[in-house]
Amino acid sequence: MDGQLLPVLLLLLLRAWGPRGQGTGPGGSLEEPPKEEVPEEVPEEDGILVLSQRTLGLALQEHPTLLVEFYAPWCGPCRALAPEYSKAAALLAAESARARLAKVDGSSAPELLEEFAVTEYPTLKFFRDGNRMHPEEYTGPREAEGIAEWLRRRVGPSATRLEDEEGAQALIEARDVVVIGFFQNLQDEDVATFLTLAQEALDMTFGLTDQPKLFQKFGLTKDTVVLFKKFDEGRADFPVDEELGLDQGDLSRFLLTHSMHLVTEFNSQTSPKIFAAKILNHLLLFVNQTLAPHQELLAGFGEAAPPFRGQVLFVVVDVGAGNNHVLQYFGLKAEEAPTLRFINMETTEKYAPEDGGLVTAASVAAFCHAVLSNQVEPYLVSQEVPPDWDQRPVKTLVGKNFEQVAFDETKNVFIKFYAPWCAHCKKMAPAWEALAEKYKDHEDIIIAELDATANELEAFAVHSFPTLKYFPAGPGGKVIDYKGSRDLETFSKFLDSGGQLPAEKPTEEPTAPFPETPANSTPGPKEEL
Ligand SMILES: *[C@@H]1O[C@H](CO)[C@@H](O)[C@H](O)[C@H]1NC(C)=O
Repeated sequence: MDGQLLPVLLLLLLRAWGPRGQGTGPGGSLEEPPKEEVPEEVPEEDGILVLSQRTLGLALQEHPTLLVEFYAPWCGPCRALAPEYSKAAALLAAESARARLAKVDGSSAPELLEEFAVTEYPTLKFFRDGNRMHPEEYTGPREAEGIAEWLRRRVGPSATRLEDEEGAQALIEARDVVVIGFFQNLQDEDVATFLTLAQEALDMTFGLTDQPKLFQKFGLTKDTVVLFKKFDEGRADFPVDEELGLDQGDLSRFLLTHSMHLVTEFNSQTSPKIFAAKILNHLLLFVNQTLAPHQELLAGFGEAAPPFRGQVLFVVVDVGAGNNHVLQYFGLKAEEAPTLRFINMETTEKYAPEDGGLVTAASVAAFCHAVLSNQVEPYLVSQEVPPDWDQRPVKTLVGKNFEQVAFDETKNVFIKFYAPWCAHCKKMAPAWEALAEKYKDHEDIIIAELDATANELEAFAVHSFPTLKYFPAGPGGKVIDYKGSRDLETFSKFLDSGGQLPAEKPTEEPTAPFPETPANSTPGPKEEL
């Protein structure tokens, strides 16, 4: 057979036996053309079902327990999630779990976005029993094991039923933190509350029992949730309120508080827990772990902790372990260790003891009590004033020289508050330099910048970057927020008119001097639709 004939034959065969319903092959002509193409199988990519407007219904029939990710090709956080999502699918497949993972490109499925009220990417929804109505919003972790565990606890029971001592002991031994619900009646509403919480608290293992001999074994007479841990006190009891029943929020706070070590070492694994602990006050001990005299301080620090459990979280920060961002946040240098700092996470007010280097159980407790009873003034973080702060056209401000420069009654001061990592700040930097260059000979105008991540101000807090503020000359400490576009021309007009703002609602007045996009509507790091 020569080389020409074989491909032609193959092509003919393919035509004849090719996929049905395409209307191109012979023999399909007698059937009514289908109204919409329904493929028989939902395509897959890396173990993930790839859905479209048409195939969601089909996928739900075939896979009644389904987690669906709505993504867009251009969405950064979606790309970061992708490998973890595939790994989670592989984990579940290896266990033959009933749950499947799927994704749908929202940018080509607008009807689905509307049906499921998706407003940002990625959005994940969990469907059960093949039911298309009211899927559960997925707010779980974004890494593989967490995603898999979240689904396991929905597909299977979220707590292990315990029938005897052996089973209970085995569960308690298995993990560092194990939570067991002791309920006399498993039909009770409190049990449902307990199981719902167990679905969410993925980093703890849950058990459940109604066996009288287990109540007895653990010295209980009433319904109680007990947290067993292999450290610190070993056990903490949460008795169920007989009248009010089990409150999920209260129990959740209790478990978070008591599952943490009395003293937590700060690192990348513990920091999410530290911030999630919902304990507003943190006491940090900064030490250099390579120095024996520093290590010896940990004992006294830990000794002071028990009475503050649930009120103040005790944290140790090793200054030599990639924790520079923490040091910077507190305005500290590594050489200042050992030292203590206290922070209220809600107000972000920071406190330093008068003698930071003295760390004994008594001095630590005294410092905590003093802060909690408002006997210590918070301090503001500031860098040192650089010796050449006023040598360049753009002046460098820090916390320590801010007031003196910004509120100078003889000067009009225009300040950029930035963060070193902020892309919008970098983008506007050349315009800011050019502005400073242009006005450098105006005695009464100062163009300046301040790194707001390393300097705190008493006058106001900076929450978004860049923030631009104008401090006109004259008495009264006036401050004008700049909301115009960030280019040399607009900046200049603003300065020349003595800090005139563009109209408040530029969209309603197309002839306003600044019809450009206002500064606060520039896209932030969130990926909206
Ligand atoms: C910790 O102490 C060691 C020993 O003195 C020193 O070499 C190291 O630089 C210190 N680490 C930091 C971050 O200061």
